[in-house]
Amino acid sequence: MAELAEMVPVFIMGKRYDVPASLTIMKAMEWAGYTLVRGVGCRGGFCGACATVYRIKDDPKLYFGLACQTVVQPEMYLGQIPFFPAKRAQYDIKQLKAESVTLFKVYPETLRCLGCGTCTKACPQELDVKGYMAAAMRGDIAQVANMSFDCIMCGLCAARCPAEEPQYNIAILSRRLYGRYLAPRSEHLANRMEELEAHQYDEEINVLKALDTDDLKERYKARDIEK
Ligand code: SF4
Ligand code: SF4
Ligand code: FES
Repeated sequence: MAELAEMVPVFIMGKRYDVPASLTIMKAMEWAGYTLVRGVGCRGGFCGACATVYRIKDDPKLYFGLACQTVVQPEMYLGQIPFFPAKRAQYDIKQLKAESVTLFKVYPETLRCLGCGTCTKACPQELDVKGYMAAAMRGDIAQVANMSFDCIMCGLCAARCPAEEPQYNIAILSRRLYGRYLAPRSEHLANRMEELEAHQYDEEINVLKALDTDDLKERYKARDIEK
């Protein structure tokens, strides 16, 4: 006979539910009868839609996590933050220059950061958010881009910041500037683009376009993979 699943009590929107101990917060909410329309996206830890804050009974600490990745614990008090508004500047990346001053012009509040580190404690991606904000204050676009690479825009850092910084939007501006102006160019990609624009592969592309789905799948499986 199958063993009964271990159940743990959790509190969702203040109401107690006993849920299987192996579930993630997201699955526990669905198990408890919630239909998630907002605050859910990829279910794989990439989209940042399921930011969640929680406390554990008798523990004063406020915890942060992604509902799709964090497994429930007994006596967890859950609150979801499906969207946390933060300032998002309007800009045309083609009109900007990859200079230190660009970050301060687009987001002058960058320089207001207090260095308190609350954002780092809140980040479910375990990013050094305080560190990338320090790099932003130095105008080091490449460093911000590098340190924030795994940001999923969940907004938990902005939710906790006493200086009301839009950290993740400063970070994405840096990554855009880096990608457009600073990242080393890939020579073989540029060469391949030139070949494509010179119609060097038109014949092979037309052969592929004429294949049906099964033949295409076979071709895909049999392809040479560049190591
Ligand atoms: S929480 Fe805000 S003020 Fe504190 S280090 Fe992070 S960005 Fe700076
Ligand atoms: S840096 Fe901020 S927005 Fe990005 S993943 Fe961490 S907490 Fe979420
Ligand atoms: S649903 Fe996308 S990160 Fe959780």
